[in-house]
Amino acid sequence: MTGPGGADRTPRPTALVTGANKGLGKEVSRQLAARGMSVLLTARDEERGRAAAAELAAEGGDIRFARLDVTEEKSVRSVAELVGESFGRLDVLVNNAGVSGVVRGERRSLHEMSVETLRSTLETNVVGAFALTQALLPALRTAGGRVVNVTSALATFARTTGRGPALPADLIPYCASKAALNMTSVLLADQLREWGVTVCAVSPGYVATDMNNFTGPKTVQEGARTIVRFATLAPDELPDRAFITEEGAAPW
Ligand SMILES: NC(=O)c1ccc[n+]([C@@H]2O[C@H](COP(=O)([O-])OP(=O)(O)OC[C@H]3O[C@@H](n4cnc5c(N)ncnc54)[C@H](OP(=O)(O)O)[C@@H]3O)[C@@H](O)[C@H]2O)c1
Repeated sequence: MTGPGGADRTPRPTALVTGANKGLGKEVSRQLAARGMSVLLTARDEERGRAAAAELAAEGGDIRFARLDVTEEKSVRSVAELVGESFGRLDVLVNNAGVSGVVRGERRSLHEMSVETLRSTLETNVVGAFALTQALLPALRTAGGRVVNVTSALATFARTTGRGPALPADLIPYCASKAALNMTSVLLADQLREWGVTVCAVSPGYVATDMNNFTGPKTVQEGARTIVRFATLAPDELPDRAFITEEGAAPW
C-alpha cells in the first residue's frame, strides 16, 4: 500500500479481511477482489500473508497486504492508520481471524483443559474483533460500511433447545467466544445503525480448513460465498440483528 498522504485513495469499494493467509479468510479475500473491491488481506505472519496476497494479486485482483495480529494493540492501531491514510474509508470489514482453542488430535477433558486456553481464545475471537472494529470506526463511518463477524452455529443457543449430543468439553472456549461475538454483533449493530454502518454475524457452515483438520464437508469456496454474500448485500436487504447462515437469518 502507499504511505501517508492518501496518494492511493482507490476509487473502488474497499475491504479488510483478518486471518487471511489461508482458509476462509484467504478465499473471502479472493471473492471480494473478484467483485471489484480493493482488498487489504491481513495476517499475523508476514511471510505467509505476503505469499497469499501475491498469489491472489497474480489472479488479477487489487489485493494488498498488511501484517495484523488482532491481539496486539499496536498492530491494530497501525492497520487502522494505514486504512485511514491509504483508503480513507472502509466498506467491508470481515472479522475472520479465529482460533479453535482445541489441541489438534487431542481431546481434552474438562479437568485437563487449561483456563489459559479460555482466556486466549476470548482474546482472539472476541476482544480482537472488537478492538479492530473500534479502531476502524472512522473509516467505516465514512463509507457507511459493513462489519461481518465470522461466527459458528456451534455457538447458538438454539442448539441448547432439545437434547442433542453434548459437545466435547474442550469446545467450551470456542463456543463461549463465538456466543460472546454474537452478542457483540447485535449490540454493535444497534450502536452503529445511526451512522449507516451495518453489522452481522455470519456462520459459513462446517468447512474443510486447517481449523478442523479439513474434516468439514463444505469447501472454502462454499463457506466464503456465504460470508461474501452478506458482506456485500444492500443494507436494506440485510436481516436486522440476525444470526446468519447460508439460508439467511436463523435462530440465535
Ligand atoms: N471451518 C469451519 O468449519 C468454520 C465454521 C464456523 C466458523 N468458522 C470460523 O471461520 C474463521 C476462519 O477459520 P478457518 O476455518 O478458515 O480456519 P483457519 O484456516 O485455521 O484460519 C484461521 C485464521 O485466523 C488466523 N488467526 C488466528 N489468530 C490470529 C490473530 N491473533 N491475529 C490474526 N490472525 C489470527 C490464523 O492465522 P495463522 O495461520 O497464523 O494461525 C488463520 O489465518 C474463524 O473465525 C472460525 O472460527 C470456521
